[in-house]
Formats: sequence, structure tokens, C-alpha cells
Amino acid sequence: MATRSVRTLDDAFRKMLDKETRPIPESFRRDSPIGPGPTFVPVKNYYSQEFFDLEVEKLWKRVWQMAAHEDDLPNIGDYLPYDIAGMSFLIVKSGEDEYKAYYNSCLHRGRKLREHRGKQADELRCPFHGWAWKLDGSIKQIPCEWDFPDLKREEQSLPEVKVGRWGRYIFINPDENCEPFEDFIGDLPSHFKLLPYENRYKEAHVAKIIRCNWKAANEAFMESYHVIATHPQILMGGAHDVDTKYDVFGNYSRAIRCGALDSAGMPQWDPLPEDGKMRLRNPLNGFVYVRIEEGLVEVTAPDGRTGRFDIQARHLEGDLTEVNPHLVSWAGGPLVEQTEFDKAIAEKAKKNEKKIHPRVLAAEIQRDALRNVVPSIADQVSDIEFTSIFFTLFPNFHPWGSFNRINYRFRPHGTNPNECIMECIYLAPIPENGEYEPCKEIHWLSADDDWTDAPELGMLAKVFNQDVRNLPLVQEGLKATAKEFVQLADYNETKPRHFQMLLEEWLSRE
Ligand code: FES
Ligand SMILES: [Fe+2]
Repeated sequence: MATRSVRTLDDAFRKMLDKETRPIPESFRRDSPIGPGPTFVPVKNYYSQEFFDLEVEKLWKRVWQMAAHEDDLPNIGDYLPYDIAGMSFLIVKSGEDEYKAYYNSCLHRGRKLREHRGKQADELRCPFHGWAWKLDGSIKQIPCEWDFPDLKREEQSLPEVKVGRWGRYIFINPDENCEPFEDFIGDLPSHFKLLPYENRYKEAHVAKIIRCNWKAANEAFMESYHVIATHPQILMGGAHDVDTKYDVFGNYSRAIRCGALDSAGMPQWDPLPEDGKMRLRNPLNGFVYVRIEEGLVEVTAPDGRTGRFDIQARHLEGDLTEVNPHLVSWAGGPLVEQTEFDKAIAEKAKKNEKKIHPRVLAAEIQRDALRNVVPSIADQVSDIEFTSIFFTLFPNFHPWGSFNRINYRFRPHGTNPNECIMECIYLAPIPENGEYEPCKEIHWLSADDDWTDAPELGMLAKVFNQDVRNLPLVQEGLKATAKEFVQLADYNETKPRHFQMLLEEWLSRE
């Protein structure tokens, strides 16, 4: 590891930036590594109800958290419940460019005021006995008010929680003594200058129940270390032991999947035959996975052994018995129609005679696509800005880089420490011609649904299937372990380490 240290990566990254032909945003030249140090996380933190309850008290009741997007509430009177760890808040568009967040509970006998998203209400009336509030939270009507002789109307406004806003996202904080939202997010917006989040709309929103603790899922999407084993098919130009630069800044962390280093000792493989069959190769060991039919995959090793496997990667026949379950899932799982972007990438990669780095190829295609939507900035965007850059704003919100659509949020499912909700939101640039239609609904998937049931996610659905295949097994493994702790890598797990450090700090606050 000595020869492929973090410094090697930083040097290679700087050299890569120096080669760019367009101006590089200042934020890319900022180095803010986390110090090395062993990080051990108690396994109980992922399933103990006591620890979960502590998180509710010390974290969820006090931290700024992403609760909604303006596209969820386009018109005055629109509202959206935001449920978190057994609590519920009602986000309401109460006026032109004005949003309020109320405890989602009636002041009479406590019924939840709203259970679903709703549109253009002119009042918030409780469906139990009909108490009603105006959108600004003041009491409007109490049926049989004479029967509450001691009630003071001025004390019957809906209790509010604080609202913060970043780039059309609406954050809330239930702690009335919390730090200002702007201090909490710090200079995160400075990483999004050319295409700020103010200029994006919600193109898709898919939510799915996952059978694991919210932190296990949250952390699984913070590092690219797992790409080596979980998504070998997307290794950039080879298998890198370190291909991602990580930095931390206050309450957020950043990963830039730059692929600046050449793979050390990566074997070279002949191109795969093109016979119309779905096939892919694991670049690490050369095994080739071929789809025979849905749920049935044949794998051939470089030494000629073959084996057939079901979709759970159980061996069915042949002398090859052990394969990568995620590649079986990719080859044998439901097919997803390729987007124009995926097709263009595949086409360009095939014709890539000059052996241009896949990152640069992908940048060219993305720049072309951007030119059709926001022509005024497309040619200012450097190649590095189109790569996978993923931020995590503590505790659970993951806005990807300037020109990537992905945003994730991970939150507990009710008060169950063994389940969470994963959401993938695509934010697309608002076209300069002003014509766009935001997605209308949140598309919910159950724990047993396949991500490909949400075709709006494109090929990413198949990537999620690989990630999410691990997660319930992580949850079960954490309970099965003989050890008391899990251990995080010094560098490649910078972001989970940063998250755990902040969490520990929050949970130890008075
Ligand atoms: S509980 Fe809401 S009006 Fe009675
Ligand atoms: Fe992943």
C-alpha cells in the first residue's frame, strides 16, 4: 500500500486537473482530508432499540434534515407529510415562496392531520372532529367551541418547526434552539456554482423500504470501495485500489471518483464477442457472465471451466462453482431499456480507438446532452465536473455533483432499527427555454420489489439491485458476528468515518 498512498492519488489528481482545457472550479483544488485513525463502530449501533431511541432524542429531534423539495409543493395550499423515526411533520406551502412545517398532529386529540401528500388546500381540517387551521397555522374553526369554555384561541395555533432552504430543497429542524441552517450547511453551495440547485427540477423520485438499519444503507452509498466487489462492471478503465478522492468540510463530505490512477497490475482481456447475448466480464478475474434466460446465468472462467447459476447465484451445474453474485444479478436480472445516454456511451466506448479515458468519454457525451438543455453553460464545464462526485450532508442527505442527477436520502422506517427507507431523487437542470414537467408522485417500492420496477431510474436500477442485495445481509451479518465492532478503512472509508465521528459527537451532546 505504501506505493499507492493517498498522496499518490492527490498528486495524480492534481496532474489530471492541470491537463483540463477548461477552467476548473476552485472547489476542486481544495484538499481537506480527514486524519488517519482506527475507526471501530459497535455492531449494536445498527440494531439496538436503545441506540435507536438515543438517535431519536439526540439526533432526529435536533438536526437539520431534508424534508421536501419545492416540486413536491408547487401551489399554495399544497402539503407533504414528512415522517422520521416515529415523528411526523407537515410541510405546507403557505404563501408565495413561503413554506411552513408543523407537527403533524391535531391539537384536539392528536390525530395525524394529514397522512398523504395533498393539493391546494385552503385550510387544514382534522378529519376526526373537524378542528381547522389556516395555512399560516392560526386556528380557523373549532366545532362546538362553546364546549371548551377555557380554551384560548390565541393558544391554538399549530406548533411550528424551523425551516431552512437550499436550492429548492426544504429542510426542517424540530429544535427551536438549533444553529442557523446557513451555519449548518456551511459552504456546501459553493461546490455547485455553475449549475446551482436553484436551477434544477425533480425529474424522478423513487422510495423503497430496505431491511437494514438506516446507517448501514447510508454508509453503503458513501464510498466507492465497494465498487470493486459489488459493481465490477462499472470499474473505470480497470480495477483501482484507490480511484476516489475524499475530503471532509464541516458537516459535509465529498468524494470525487476521478480514476486518476492507472490500475496496478490489471490483467488485459480480449474484447467480448458481440452475438446479441447479454454478457459482461469481471475485469478482476476475467470471468464472463452470459444471460441464458431471465434468472439463469452461465459463467466461464479464463481457464475454461463453466458453471450455471440461478439468480441468487446458487450453483446449478458445471465445474465452476463460485462466482460473483452481483454479476449474476446484473446478467440474469430483469432487463432495463437503455437510455439514449447509455447507448451513446456504449457506442463511443466501442469506437474508442484513441483509448480515451472512460471518464473523458462520458464527459463529452454529458456535455453534448447539456448543450441541448442549458446551452449557455455547457462549454464552460470541465471534464472533471462530469465525473461521479458525491457529497454527504450529515446525517442522511447525499446530493451528487454539479452535473449528476442523483440525490439520495436514507431515513429510518418508523421506529424499527432493522428497516429504513432509501430514496433516489433525480434532479435535472431546468431548461433555459423554461419548459419542464416535474415528476408528480413519489414512486414507492416495497422491501420485496425490484428496483427495475421503477423504469424511470434507467440502468441505475440494476446498480441499486446490486447494492441492496448486500444490505439485508449486512443487517443479518451484524447480528451474527462474533465481533463487537466493524472496522472502517482510513482513507477509502473517509466518508463513513466522518459520519460516525459526527454522529458520536451529536449523541454525546447534553
Ligand atoms: S382529533 Fe382532531 S378534531 Fe378531534
Ligand atoms: Fe453501490
